[in-house]
Amino acid sequence: MNRSILSLVKGAHSFRHVDEKEFDKNLNRKVDRAMRNIDNRTNYFFSLILLGKFLSHKCLPPYLLKENFDKLKNNIDKIEVFHGISTDVLKKFGPDSFNKFNMSNIFEWMEDDLFNNVMREFIDLAKPGSRLCYRYTLARPRNLDEKNSKILISEPELAAELFAIDRSFMYESFHVYRIDKK
Ligand SMILES: C[S@@+](CC[C@H](N)C(=O)[O-])C[C@H]1O[C@@H](n2cnc3c(N)ncnc32)[C@H](O)[C@@H]1O
Repeated sequence: MNRSILSLVKGAHSFRHVDEKEFDKNLNRKVDRAMRNIDNRTNYFFSLILLGKFLSHKCLPPYLLKENFDKLKNNIDKIEVFHGISTDVLKKFGPDSFNKFNMSNIFEWMEDDLFNNVMREFIDLAKPGSRLCYRYTLARPRNLDEKNSKILISEPELAAELFAIDRSFMYESFHVYRIDKK
């Protein structure tokens, strides 16, 4: 987790989107915050990272909890796994076909232009009133252009509330939008 090694893997240019250049400090700050603010007994990420195992049968990701087994089994046919980028998804499923978008940190190293073009694909894919969220691990958030910021309505209070209780504590910021598509 140091800059020289990560620069070799990702290309040094990626790091111009990062303010805090010392990653050990960045990570320590996040670990410190999580250890103070989040209940470690139920934090399965911490358990796995620090102990190499889950602490108990209660300290598990929801998909591994015993009480969720029947529900998952009964709905397993509704899950479709598709490998591809948003352009492929749009080609296969067409516009107005999804109402929830959890994009993890796919925008981490994108330039603003590409970020906005990809965002337009998600807007195309979205049904009116959909929700979209994403986060960054290290980088500063990219800027929505004028056209996209009229359609993507930011929900900063909800994002802050969820970010504060996120057990996967490594992230720099979290963003939630409602897609206000006429
Ligand atoms: C910084 S990495 C994030 C990796 C992710 N957190 C994970 O654990 O796999 C960025 C990822 O975004 C994906 N990506 C980039 N553009 C995308 C797009 N338009 N649609 C879907 N995924 C995309 C890339 O393939 C890459 O795996």
